[in-house]
Amino acid sequence: MLLRLFLGVLPFVGSALSQAAAQYTDPDNGITFWGLTDVVHNVTYGYVFPPLATSGPNPNEYIAEIVAPLVNQWVGFALSGSMIDSLLVAAWPNNGKIVFTTRYATVYPGPVITTLPSTSINSTHWKWVFRCQNCTSWTGGSIDVSSANAVPAWCVSTIAVDNPADPGTSMVQHTDFGFYFFQFSLAHVTAAQYNNWAAGGTGGGSTTTITSSSTTTTAPPTATVSVDYIIVGSGPGGIITADRLSQAGKSVLLLERGGPSTGQTGGTYQPAWAKGTNLTKFDIPGLFESMFTDANDFWWCKDITVFAGCLVGGGTSINGALYWLPSDNDFSTSVGWPAAWTNHQPYTAALKARLPPTDAPSTDGKRYLEQTSVVVSQLLTNQGYRNVTINDSPNAKDHIYGSLHLFIGGKRGGPVATYLQTALARKNFQLKIYTEVLNVVRNGSQITGVKTNDTSVAGGIYPLNPNGRVILSAGSYGSARLLFRSGIGPTDMINLVAGDPVAGPNLPPSSQWINLPVGYNVSDNPSINLVFTHPSINSYDNWADVFTDPPQADAAQYLASQSGIFAQASPRLNFWEALGGSDGVTRWLQGTARPGAASVTTVYPYNATQMFTITLYLSAGIKSRGRLGINAALNALPLVNPWLVDPVDKAVLIQGLQNIVAGVALVPGMTMITPDNTTNIVDYVNNYDPSTMDSNHWIGSNIIGTAGKAVVDVNTKVFNTNNLFVVDASIIPSLPYGNPHGLLMSVAEQAAAKILALSGGP
Ligand SMILES: Cc1cc2nc3c(=O)[nH]c(=O)nc-3n(C[C@H](O)[C@H](O)[C@H](O)COP(=O)(O)OP(=O)(O)OC[C@H]3O[C@@H](n4cnc5c(N)ncnc54)[C@H](O)[C@@H]3O)c2cc1C
Ligand SMILES: *[C@@H]1O[C@H](CO)[C@@H](O)[C@H](O)[C@H]1NC(C)=O
Ligand SMILES: *[C@@H]1O[C@H](CO)[C@@H](O)[C@H](O)[C@H]1NC(C)=O
Ligand SMILES: *[C@@H]1O[C@H](CO)[C@@H](O)[C@H](O)[C@H]1NC(C)=O
Ligand SMILES: *[C@@H]1O[C@H](CO)[C@@H](O)[C@H](O)[C@H]1NC(C)=O
Ligand SMILES: *[C@@H]1O[C@H](CO)[C@@H](O)[C@H](O)[C@H]1NC(C)=O
Ligand SMILES: *[C@@H]1O[C@H](CO)[C@@H](O)[C@H](O)[C@H]1NC(C)=O
Ligand SMILES: *[C@@H]1O[C@H](CO)[C@@H](O)[C@H](O)[C@H]1NC(C)=O
Ligand SMILES: *[C@@H]1O[C@H](CO)[C@@H](O)[C@H](O)[C@H]1NC(C)=O
Ligand SMILES: *[C@@H]1O[C@H](CO)[C@@H](O)[C@H](O)[C@H]1NC(C)=O
Ligand SMILES: *[C@@H]1O[C@H](CO)[C@@H](O)[C@H](O)[C@H]1NC(C)=O
Repeated sequence: MLLRLFLGVLPFVGSALSQAAAQYTDPDNGITFWGLTDVVHNVTYGYVFPPLATSGPNPNEYIAEIVAPLVNQWVGFALSGSMIDSLLVAAWPNNGKIVFTTRYATVYPGPVITTLPSTSINSTHWKWVFRCQNCTSWTGGSIDVSSANAVPAWCVSTIAVDNPADPGTSMVQHTDFGFYFFQFSLAHVTAAQYNNWAAGGTGGGSTTTITSSSTTTTAPPTATVSVDYIIVGSGPGGIITADRLSQAGKSVLLLERGGPSTGQTGGTYQPAWAKGTNLTKFDIPGLFESMFTDANDFWWCKDITVFAGCLVGGGTSINGALYWLPSDNDFSTSVGWPAAWTNHQPYTAALKARLPPTDAPSTDGKRYLEQTSVVVSQLLTNQGYRNVTINDSPNAKDHIYGSLHLFIGGKRGGPVATYLQTALARKNFQLKIYTEVLNVVRNGSQITGVKTNDTSVAGGIYPLNPNGRVILSAGSYGSARLLFRSGIGPTDMINLVAGDPVAGPNLPPSSQWINLPVGYNVSDNPSINLVFTHPSINSYDNWADVFTDPPQADAAQYLASQSGIFAQASPRLNFWEALGGSDGVTRWLQGTARPGAASVTTVYPYNATQMFTITLYLSAGIKSRGRLGINAALNALPLVNPWLVDPVDKAVLIQGLQNIVAGVALVPGMTMITPDNTTNIVDYVNNYDPSTMDSNHWIGSNIIGTAGKAVVDVNTKVFNTNNLFVVDASIIPSLPYGNPHGLLMSVAEQAAAKILALSGGP
């Protein structure tokens, strides 16, 4: 569908130019923009240009921002607004990120847009700050950046775009628009200022003022106290490693950039209906779906373009909590583990002892909202699947189904409720939150500490004891970026760091850069949703109001005893099927069924209270790999998507989808509504939006293996360093059968043992 733009309304130009652009400084990033706030909608538009050229053509870019109250579903502008043939730049918030598009009648691909770090979404506004390169001219039009009398246009819409996840979505016409005077000629700054901001830097001149919070009550740690181990990141990898190292008597400092999550960690963000309890959004499993629909989504890492949790517990504080004990195959040499790792059983047993899984998380032992399980089990039983207790036999993953495994006690639980608590009880362990590590400090191969944004310690540096070690557990994106910022990784990535005015000076000299395949080899499960209806289903209103206005009886039951529907996340049933590929490699299909649906596309009417989703993932055996990295603003992002690159991966996933679809007709009352019967499965997969194929199961960016091919060695030590380690999802060489954090927690148990056993340490 085409977007009808300003074209139809241009005759109004000049009729209401009451406003004019003026200069202002955005306090969040220190950028001096020229622009205006439209007085009706309170949307701010700001622009700043690099210096005018002294000869030849002017630079073709600018930095801009849109700051909009949440009621504005999408907002756009056309800098050439008073002319026919405008290029529209538009954006909207979606799931905590800004989605943007450039249109010239249809999607127009010329501009190169980089979202800058001061972009944010809070409870009242969304704000998009970005660099727009190749943006001042387009086929059919241009702007004159030296003009003293430009007349740009803005437009807002209170009607959401059709598919907010998709930059190419169809959009209804804006609900309001306007024009204003703008002297582009005034809105230029020096190259130094511009380049700093364009690279994500903040502030005006040479002195950057960092205001530290005056509300800090905890005593600042003294930089003179060095420790044996500094661990960066309190996700499952970091917490378990920290607990085991501190248990062995080592002094351990765990640094976490985010803040509290569950009530036990001091978290207080809770639904109004849980007021008066310690139960936060992060404690109550049934609030999982609301992670993606909450305007105040402070828990996402705003400088990573895919979902990642930046708070105590990392991903385990915001994920679906699906918990699968690893299988022997998940640790075999055939999937890339060194032989020394295949004996995983003692470590998996240690994990199971600390964190026993259950397939009935409600404290009363009952299962709730099981209609979806009943319908899907009928479909699967017809196809020869068996009903099993999945974690009782982790190695059996063909033609089986069962209930989800999660944590006990009807709460999120996980490593935060267990391993972190035992660590915190030791006086040789310290957790510091709201402390972001910027890079490791090193002299060649020897790491001496980490540099942080903590302004209360000298140089922001936390030092190591002489034989001390640093362990990166900042997640698949976070640890890769820390390596780049420490001069470790592919040269193209380190060069981006070198170009950053803040991070560049902290790099070691280029003679000390260490070239390793950081960011390559990444894998994530491609996942495809099929949506169905069945008369027996209760879609639970698609989980829409669980945070704000849940069914009263269910909320009351949960508060009283952590039982009932809220004691688990939305998924209900899980299954696996092994499928042979034409390349002779077996791949596994994992399916997860839940009441409700994220999106429906059908030409037929359907009953939304009866809908449910089966998500089909391709898991173990995947060959496709991608690459992750950073951009010039040092935001972390996928550089090469890892989904269905390998044609046999794609053929096998299509086969798995077709197997499921073939069974639908045999289940009375079951109807597939997405895709409906006007779209075949092959077309459905071919046209599937890649960004919604993401399963958030990223692994492999710091892959374990042999020198020359991998980033970390058999002891999880970064090659060509003496004392730098990585223990998080990024070292995992291949995706396991199931959602990966169960495997990762066993990996962390084993890594801690190997690090402790390695000579030369503290
Ligand atoms: C929405 C979502 C749903 C998921 N659902 C499931 C599921 O149901 N089951 C499952 O098994 N897996 C699931 N996963 C995946 C699982 O959560 C991850 O595999 C797991 O959390 C990875 O753990 P990690 O230790 O590698 O890193 P993370 O959990 O990402 O933790 C990294 C930590 O490091 C911190 N950090 C990062 N950079 C810095 C820095 N520079 N300085 C200081 N601290 C830093 C972060 O704030 C974070 O706390 C899901 C993931 C997401 C995002
Ligand atoms: C814009 O801001 C003004 C002043 O704060 C306020 O009165 C008005 O309601 C706001 N309008 C919208 C649409 O938010
Ligand atoms: C700039 O945009 C034009 C189209 O407007 C496109 O042809 C060109 O390839 C783009 N240049 C770059 C460097 O992206
Ligand atoms: C939300 O963000 C806007 C724009 O940056 C800011 O003006 C406002 O104060 C913020 N509100 C809250 C509650 O943080
Ligand atoms: C809140 O947590 C404290 C400390 O862990 C505990 O003593 C108390 O019982 C909890 N209160 C509720 C309502 O759960
Ligand atoms: C599978 O078997 C278990 C244990 O017998 C049972 O509780 C559960 O209801 C069965 N699941 C389905 C979907 O029939
Ligand atoms: C350091 O970074 C964290 C996370 O980005 C932030 O919450 C904290 O306020 C920062 N600290 C300082 C002193 O700027
Ligand atoms: C760096 O290490 C070398 C030897 O490896 C040593 O000679 C030098 O003094 C160290 N430099 C600093 C600044 O510590
Ligand atoms: C939709 O489904 C619900 C639940 O089965 C049922 O109560 C309702 O009558 C249905 N609505 C229509 C319009 O068929
Ligand atoms: C397609 O589905 C619709 C709605 O379920 C149904 O009415 C129609 O008969 C189906 N057509 C075919 C060819 O199966
Ligand atoms: C990781 O990727 C690099 C670059 O593609 C490749 O050379 C290397 O063999 C891969 N490593 C492993 C262990 O697969």
